[in-house]
Amino acid sequence: MRIGLTYDLASEHRETLRDEEKLAELDRDDTVDAIEAAVAKLGHEVVRIGGAKALVGRLAAGERWDLVFNIAEGLDGAARESQVPGLLDVYGIPYTFSDPLVLAVTLEKDLAKHVVRAAGLATPDFAVIRSEAELDVDLPYPLFVKPIAEGTSKGIGADSVVRDAASLRATATKLLRKFEQPVLVERYLSGREVTVGILGSGREAEVLGTLEVSIYGPGDQGVYSYDNKKKWEDRVAYAWVRPSEDEEIAAAEALALGAWRALGCRDGGRVDVRFDDAGHPMFLEVNPLPGLSPIDSDLSILVGKMGIEYDALIARIVDSASKRVAARGTG
Ligand SMILES: Nc1ncnc2c1ncn2[C@@H]1O[C@H](COP(=O)(O)OP(=O)(O)O)[C@@H](O)[C@H]1O
Ligand SMILES: [Mg+2]
Repeated sequence: MRIGLTYDLASEHRETLRDEEKLAELDRDDTVDAIEAAVAKLGHEVVRIGGAKALVGRLAAGERWDLVFNIAEGLDGAARESQVPGLLDVYGIPYTFSDPLVLAVTLEKDLAKHVVRAAGLATPDFAVIRSEAELDVDLPYPLFVKPIAEGTSKGIGADSVVRDAASLRATATKLLRKFEQPVLVERYLSGREVTVGILGSGREAEVLGTLEVSIYGPGDQGVYSYDNKKKWEDRVAYAWVRPSEDEEIAAAEALALGAWRALGCRDGGRVDVRFDDAGHPMFLEVNPLPGLSPIDSDLSILVGKMGIEYDALIARIVDSASKRVAARGTG
């Protein structure tokens, strides 16, 4: 196949997006290199495209691909992750990962929680603060405060855990101003944290494996915060945990797979889960465009612990998406 590659490179936006946290979610050059090499190894022709604007130009010029491997996060707009898949849908070109509707719902964490809860799955009680005029919520402390539509732990730090109204107001105000988007307030979950890797779509989706994330050292205590994630080599312990040896993990995997299916995610990604103090797993968020850095993304760390090659992970994603190429036919 001739496979296009869409992405938003941090190196291409250094000048316009000076804020380091804003750049954090964009792809690094070595990630695009690694995906390109893995796809080429499968015998496909790989064509680098770039982000939505580059895609518009190439499509208008008449270029087409059998499949697009899409990791473009988008830069602006509420549904920024949906922009590239939306353009590809216009031209009937199949692509890896979820469709625009799913990417929009999952980017906005409260919407994803509504869907998951409606499917009968557990997620912490929550409230949304939309402006500085409504900084009070009707939930019991302690609470956890985070931007409603960011990733890579942006905006998450020690002050995300709040134990009274004054600290809730302080953190919520800071986040409203910094990220210019609503703030999600959730019951604080004091238990273990795992991220469940999933491969495939719909009924065919299955759990790849689960990575337990434990924080140690002097950093933000017990939170997979922006700072801890950045300094992961000294602050985060990752372990592959198996459901056969641990009932809590089996429950977390069932929850994650249920959420993945309820939301309609495709091909591969991760579901973040944390346990409450009674040991019940709860859905935090789904990552349907998972970070694919070959070195420090959670999914790569997971497959590394499982003894699976990064290239094999990419092959599984291409394989899952290829079913939609076959369904479309060759005409
Ligand atoms: N309700 C919560 N209780 C405790 N910790 C939380 C809660 N929500 C998020 N966290 C912590 O913040 C981290 C990032 O939150 P998450 O919703 O996964 O956002 P991101 O999209 O930035 O990964 C989690 O990995 C976890 O450590
Ligand atoms: Mg997360």
